[in-house]
Amino acid sequence: MFNDSIHYKQEALHCDDLPLNEIVAKTGTPTYIYSQKRILENYTQIKSAFAKLDAHIHYSAKANNNHHILKMLVDAGAGIDAVSGGEVYLALNAGCSPENIVFAGVGKSREELRFAIGKGVGWINVENIAEIDYINEITAELGREPTRISLRLNPDVTANTHPYIATGHGGAKFGLTATTIADVLAHQDHYEHLTFSGIHVHIGSQLHDTTATQQAIKAAINLIEPYPNIRTLDIGGGLPVAYTPNEILPSIQDFVDDIYPLVKDYELILEPGRAIVADAGLLLTEVLYVKQQAGQIFYIVDASMSELIRPALYQAHHEILPVIKKDRELTPANIVGPVCETADVLGRNINLPPLIAGDLLAVMTTGAYGMVMASNYNARPRPAEIMVNGTEWKTVRERETWASLMG
Ligand code: LLP
Repeated sequence: MFNDSIHYKQEALHCDDLPLNEIVAKTGTPTYIYSQKRILENYTQIKSAFAKLDAHIHYSAKANNNHHILKMLVDAGAGIDAVSGGEVYLALNAGCSPENIVFAGVGKSREELRFAIGKGVGWINVENIAEIDYINEITAELGREPTRISLRLNPDVTANTHPYIATGHGGAKFGLTATTIADVLAHQDHYEHLTFSGIHVHIGSQLHDTTATQQAIKAAINLIEPYPNIRTLDIGGGLPVAYTPNEILPSIQDFVDDIYPLVKDYELILEPGRAIVADAGLLLTEVLYVKQQAGQIFYIVDASMSELIRPALYQAHHEILPVIKKDRELTPANIVGPVCETADVLGRNINLPPLIAGDLLAVMTTGAYGMVMASNYNARPRPAEIMVNGTEWKTVRERETWASLMG
């Protein structure tokens, strides 16, 4: 949550060397702020921890697809994990070479496949039988070299995480069953325009232990062991981040240590999203009103579930902190947005000093799955995004306007 980049200096919350109140004085609220330094540190930390496995890191663009973030990570050497034609497009525009793109997704349209194959993406992670045929046909039609694919296994394991972000259990829509994969692999030679080189498994996000990951990897290896042409294991994302100060979670090194004996003889691909960007970002919001009602304090702020849906959708907890500390007693309060939904709560029973209209709050650890999941619900323009680099900052996405809501 706190780190060397997002921290208090005296009373003022800073992003690297900049006091956040000074930035928002120029940009207004609600605004997402990111630390360039922290994003790169997180990437480097994962890269180094997995160095002994020589893992290829494909940043999962779904966590935050801001062009500047993609570009920074691509420039630092990351590949991209894209989950739609749009994300493939963004990856290419960020300068990612097509071979460094993994194109995944449970329902890729033929147009998306045609675009990705035409561009020569490095991998397509496949989750449907018919999709295998489409890729085979499109590759032939476009006269391209065989497309390299990974079959995504549904390993039938239950990840220790929120049910909405678990993907590896038998009842989930994701992946192909072991039986289906075994059958396809036994008939690889039916597909002239495909190269079967890998297996993919992603059991969920924000994983609270490594047990199910190990089970999933074992199941994947069982399937490819008979085929010496299949040497790549793409183990997806899921590295967790701390949303509260004392959360106990497996570290990146725990993941490396626990999977090392299983995967050491394979080429490894990793698709981290959250662990790279979550704690490098925060959402700044201003208190609009203070309401004392039904024995509770409500701070009604200018950010809402339209800007950050995680609390409403997953009951996710984000720490909420005053941008300028006050030396006053802390009292539990509810931080709510202006949207016409009872679920529009950013934080319940958050201990805060007494606030007044105009005070600023920071909703912490919102660099991942924040802005990308923002909507225009209630005709709310999506917020601005700011990148801080040491003592400098720049707008990396302009705030939308009412005019832009006209479509
Ligand atoms: N690879 C695949 C195939 C995925 O489905 C995902 C996330 C990732 C990689 C990246 O996972 P990460 O390293 O970020 O855990 N909106 C939710 C999270 C949804 C994750 C979807 N898939 C949230 O706000 O928690």
